[in-house]
Amino acid sequence: MASTRLRSLSHHPDDYAKSFSAYMAVSDKFDSYATWGDNVFGKAVTSKITVMLGEQEELRILGIGSGSGELDVKMLTKLLLRFPLINNRVVEPAGFMIAKYKALVESKAHELQGVRCDWRQQTMQQYAKEAGDSTKFHFIHACQSCTTWKIWKAR
Ligand SMILES: C[S@@+](CC[C@H](N)C(=O)[O-])C[C@H]1O[C@@H](n2cnc3c(N)ncnc32)[C@H](O)[C@@H]1O
Repeated sequence: MASTRLRSLSHHPDDYAKSFSAYMAVSDKFDSYATWGDNVFGKAVTSKITVMLGEQEELRILGIGSGSGELDVKMLTKLLLRFPLINNRVVEPAGFMIAKYKALVESKAHELQGVRCDWRQQTMQQYAKEAGDSTKFHFIHACQSCTTWKIWKAR
């Protein structure tokens, strides 16, 4: 009997994102995010970012696999309390996730004043190869994206 090897879902960002949305529909993840954002990120994590910035200088953030941005926006609102200017580079391969993230940013524009988003519709592998600049970041996050990273590394 012929056997077919299924290719990893990580090769198909749109399908991956659709599966993730189906999971999200029955998950209480965003409730946990809200609690985590207030109790852990807002207190324990932001206080560890000790960078001193000039008045016009932006805090540079890199988000890997940001999805539709709910968690990122939570983190951004906490970081804005300490850093009034933020450059938020988002690396996310699924176009419809970026569209949702953009809509979220627009709907929360009043809370996100001072944040400049730099959208990169790419996988992290493409980004690593093609970013074409040597920007360094003060804070990099890859929330729930490590599994994808591990799959990629294992290939
Ligand atoms: C489990 S979701 C997490 C989304 C968001 N960070 C969160 O915590 O709600 C993983 C995200 O990684 C993205 N992704 C999948 N493959 C990727 C890759 N190779 N590079 C970067 N992001 C990837 C997916 O499109 C998806 O939005």
